[in-house]
Amino acid sequence: MLAETYPYYLANKAVAANTDLEVTDKFSGKVATRVALADAKAIDAAIAAAVQAQEPLRRFAPYQRQAVLEHCIQRFRERAEEMAVALCIEAGKPIKDSRGEVARLIDTFKVAAEESLRIDGETINLEISARARGYRGFSKRVPIGPCSFISPFNFPLNLAAHKVAPAIAAGCPFVLKPASRTPIGALIIGEVLAETDLPAGAFSILPAHRDGADLFTTDERFKLLSFTGSPGVGWDLKARAGKKKVVLELGGNAACIVDADQRDRLDFVVERLVFGAFYQSGQSCISVQRILAHDDLYDELRDRLVAKVKSLKSGDPRAEDTFIGPMIDVKEAQRLQGWIDEAVKAGARLLCGGSRDGAMLQPAVLENVDAKQSVSCMEAFGPVVLLQRWNDFDAALASVNDSDFGLQAGLFSYDLRKTLRAWDVLEVGGVIVGDVPSFRVDNMPYGGVKDSGLGREGIRYAIEDMTELRLLVVRDA
Ligand code: SIN
Repeated sequence: MLAETYPYYLANKAVAANTDLEVTDKFSGKVATRVALADAKAIDAAIAAAVQAQEPLRRFAPYQRQAVLEHCIQRFRERAEEMAVALCIEAGKPIKDSRGEVARLIDTFKVAAEESLRIDGETINLEISARARGYRGFSKRVPIGPCSFISPFNFPLNLAAHKVAPAIAAGCPFVLKPASRTPIGALIIGEVLAETDLPAGAFSILPAHRDGADLFTTDERFKLLSFTGSPGVGWDLKARAGKKKVVLELGGNAACIVDADQRDRLDFVVERLVFGAFYQSGQSCISVQRILAHDDLYDELRDRLVAKVKSLKSGDPRAEDTFIGPMIDVKEAQRLQGWIDEAVKAGARLLCGGSRDGAMLQPAVLENVDAKQSVSCMEAFGPVVLLQRWNDFDAALASVNDSDFGLQAGLFSYDLRKTLRAWDVLEVGGVIVGDVPSFRVDNMPYGGVKDSGLGREGIRYAIEDMTELRLLVVRDA
């Protein structure tokens, strides 16, 4: 169950300011709890505290940062079920997926605890010519400084963790704005961090409405902005971010190719496609939106896929057997239903789903969709998948690339030549072979190209962004 109210965290301390932010239960639509809402003054104070925390954090040794991360791991384990239930209520995420996200949160902190001891430099051989004789070079990584973090609604715990945990490992103070529709997960992380001996000002977690939160983007005291969310918002923030470094983890319309040689394990392939397209109602940046199936098995794959999708249990995310819960709100469900209807009017065939009751949209499968339809070329971010045939592999790769986005792509094939060709040709951040593009473990480099973003997360890669290389050159006496 949720607490009646939640404070925000300003310079490591819980502040029970106003509780103007209502957080709804996404299944019932009723107010579930109230949260302290930060204004521009609080955000400004948090940034000032983060600036002050730089020097004490620089002196906070790697083993101390590791101890903070290990404390979090222990407390998340103890509070795992409470966190999963909170997530289930605030995000409408089915309880099984919510528990899975808590497990990933713990993984993310575990990787960060390990990486906190591995932020090393190198010795550089400078004697490349007579001119440099007697010079030695050394490099180390130093924290970049105060970081501004904005995290999304779809993984309220783990996508906040992908910013918070590497910042602690790297020794960067940060101010985090969690999504206003799902702030509870980040606030529980804040509650746990407040139990540690992180130097004062090292962290602030401030729910805020977007229109009062410009400082997260524009304030020059921040040296890095890391944003996860929609492409439209992300690129606009980058344009206004000034001199700071910007990392963007944005959306996609991920594709998955199924080769003709997959007939012997079609049930497995279909099961993974259904999972990849519809887990947490398709609200993941790497959810499968486009399936490209070889002509030889297209009909069979389509029939099995549709039968499986029709059997998915939808309803209350708290029920153990629910697979499809609500979308984040009615507006989003209406938007996606509109895109499905438009595609059907333009000649697409709706094979199942597409009806809506409030925020509950029934999982939809479409074929014969024109690539210019919004449901194909924009990020659907909901429970819909499109089927398309191919019989020329290079044309299938070109179809995957025919997108403004490039986050991850999937390929089911036993053919090594096709695997290598896909890896060479696909314009994405990652190619997943033998599984759906929706696969992610939390230490892999994760991020996109084209409109899908800039930079990579995955702890080690985030730490690279959160640190600067500092060189030492010594000339022999
Ligand atoms: C995302 O939606 O960007 C993250 C997907 C994941 O972490 O599994």
